[in-house]
Amino acid sequence: MYEIKGKTAVVTGSGRGIGREIAIKLAKQGAHVVVNVKKRVDDGNETLKMVNEYSDGIMVQADVSTRKGCIDLAEKTVESFGKVHILVNNAGIGIGMPFLDMDDELINKIISTNLMSNIYCSQEFGKIMEDNGSIVMMASLAGIKPMAMLSLYGMTKAAIIKMSEYLAIELAQRHIRVNSIAPSVVKTKMGESLIDFMNITEEEYEKRYTLTGKIIMPEEISDAALFLIRSESITGQTMVIDSGQSITGGFSH
Ligand SMILES: NC(=O)c1ccc[n+]([C@@H]2O[C@H](COP(=O)([O-])OP(=O)(O)OC[C@H]3O[C@@H](n4cnc5c(N)ncnc54)[C@H](OP(=O)(O)O)[C@@H]3O)[C@@H](O)[C@H]2O)c1
Repeated sequence: MYEIKGKTAVVTGSGRGIGREIAIKLAKQGAHVVVNVKKRVDDGNETLKMVNEYSDGIMVQADVSTRKGCIDLAEKTVESFGKVHILVNNAGIGIGMPFLDMDDELINKIISTNLMSNIYCSQEFGKIMEDNGSIVMMASLAGIKPMAMLSLYGMTKAAIIKMSEYLAIELAQRHIRVNSIAPSVVKTKMGESLIDFMNITEEEYEKRYTLTGKIIMPEEISDAALFLIRSESITGQTMVIDSGQSITGGFSH
């Protein structure tokens, strides 16, 4: 079992939602945690406060959809903690819209935030990570099963799933394990806006679309991230956490 205590972990987009839960859980295990936000510094500081209850951390404001943002994040991590062992590529945006209506600005925003961030950060951190580390990326069920109005989002998440397989092969010699997590709707700001977008209530979503009768909580995703980081025998895999949605047809219509 990979020991998290004393290691340095970076969680992109950890000002709220799933990223915040992962940051706190890593801190509870004794990791030095680098919290990252794009612009909501207050959110980042709030996460940092929670992290510092259990371990020590720093907060770095950096836009990981850019190469420069990922370089800054890597430099500040090394400045503060010297080494880096764990990277969680979590930052993302979910925007639903018919494919034919998307303009270039929106297309670039979705691709840079959801996909380029994973490419840039995996490169910048991959170069400096200690051997025997771990990378976890947030994909989505939309990257496996098509979901209405989420075409470009789903395409970026499908690419992340493939990226975790390719990186698992390339980084295997250094014993760096690379995996992704593919959830369906999780109760965060993003998940709530998706349910609003579907024009149904949370209860209706739970009843109509899940086998479990309940929406996924962010803590369940952070448990999965921790499991993947700790396991020394899982690499190149995608863990689906979807309340049974994928076997019932998802919401493709
Ligand atoms: N919630 C779901 O239903 C669901 C389902 C499947 C997959 N996911 C994936 O899980 C991940 C986390 O989702 P979430 O639900 O926790 O989302 P969320 O509540 O919207 O939080 C996203 C976080 O990412 C940050 N972020 C966005 N763009 C960034 C950038 N360019 N640089 C740095 N930080 C950035 C945001 O910070 P700022 O506020 O400062 O911009 C925010 O703190 C995403 O990759 C998402 O696609 C979510």
